[in-house]
Amino acid sequence: MEQQVYTAKDFSTLLDITKATLLKMEAEGELPQPRVNDGARIYFPHDISAYLQILGKEPLVTQKRRQIFLNFKGGTGKTSISAFYAFRLAQLGMQVLLIDLDPQGHLTQCLGIDPDSFDATLYNVLIERADIRDVIMDTEMKNLKLIPANLDLSPVELALTSMNAREQRLRKSLAGIQDAYDVIVMDASPSIGLLNLNGILACNELFVPVLADFLSYHGLKILFETLATIEEDFDFIFDNIYIFLNNYNASHNICLRAKEALEEHYSGYLMKTMIRQDVKIAEAASMGVPITQYAPKNRGSSDINDFIKEIFPNLPIVF
Ligand SMILES: Nc1ncnc2c1ncn2[C@@H]1O[C@H](COP(=O)(O)OP(=O)(O)OP(=O)(O)O)[C@@H](O)[C@H]1O
Ligand SMILES: [Mg+2]
Repeated sequence: MEQQVYTAKDFSTLLDITKATLLKMEAEGELPQPRVNDGARIYFPHDISAYLQILGKEPLVTQKRRQIFLNFKGGTGKTSISAFYAFRLAQLGMQVLLIDLDPQGHLTQCLGIDPDSFDATLYNVLIERADIRDVIMDTEMKNLKLIPANLDLSPVELALTSMNAREQRLRKSLAGIQDAYDVIVMDASPSIGLLNLNGILACNELFVPVLADFLSYHGLKILFETLATIEEDFDFIFDNIYIFLNNYNASHNICLRAKEALEEHYSGYLMKTMIRQDVKIAEAASMGVPITQYAPKNRGSSDINDFIKEIFPNLPIVF
């Protein structure tokens, strides 16, 4: 992962002003002077919010969102898509916190971070009452932060069992810091356990990646049944649930049939955007580089952009 920089042209597009206006306002001292590299002005995504404020424009998001990628079925793309989505939001200027809820630490690795390079995870927060600020890591992107995971997180399930308010500990830990982020994105493991329950209760939106096969379809049924019991037990309901097809290949008959079944039974939740099968997504994930940096012009990146447009319809995007 690398720090994203923008040219004056792209940066002005992200601010929804013309390049001429940007340069004029800089010349007149109404906007800060940009950094210059090799004679060219460069701009950073983490400055977008401050610029919008000076320009008197609406912030990037008016309502902060906390989102979890969850499916009890394994290998549906929770990790790769949540990582690339969150990274892309940061590229577009949002303050983003990613939380790796899986002791396998795949999300952490998907961002190119060595699982041996940190010694605190959510375990320290949820079980040992460490301050959540102490487990938030910086990344190469200034406006993308990460709560990483590695195998040190695995005893958390057992340790939570004997604790008070064991289902609400993450929600409570986040309460003091969540306003600093436009979006908090969590990547869950494919299991039904206390850690994932903590993740669910700390979020207000759910993303469910599904593969176009009938096992995934069955998995959805289990997921919705589980959500119904959570709703009853904790009086908790997501503001939004988004199901999306991942690894989609329109030339496969089974994909078309699974899509039709989803449209029939889950139409209220199904996203228009599908993430198509793209080997670059798998390559980028395995190399620890976000798809929009690894292959920005590929269909994987284009699908992530469409996905973001569907979730944040007013967000300016540059390619
Ligand atoms: N759209 C796609 N095109 C091609 N490969 C993909 C796509 N989405 C995910 N993959 C690949 O599929 C595999 C599983 O994806 P990923 O690890 O993100 O799933 P997961 O739901 O997080 O799995 P787990 O349940 O084990 O946590 C990975 O190798 C990933 O790179
Ligand atoms: Mg995963």
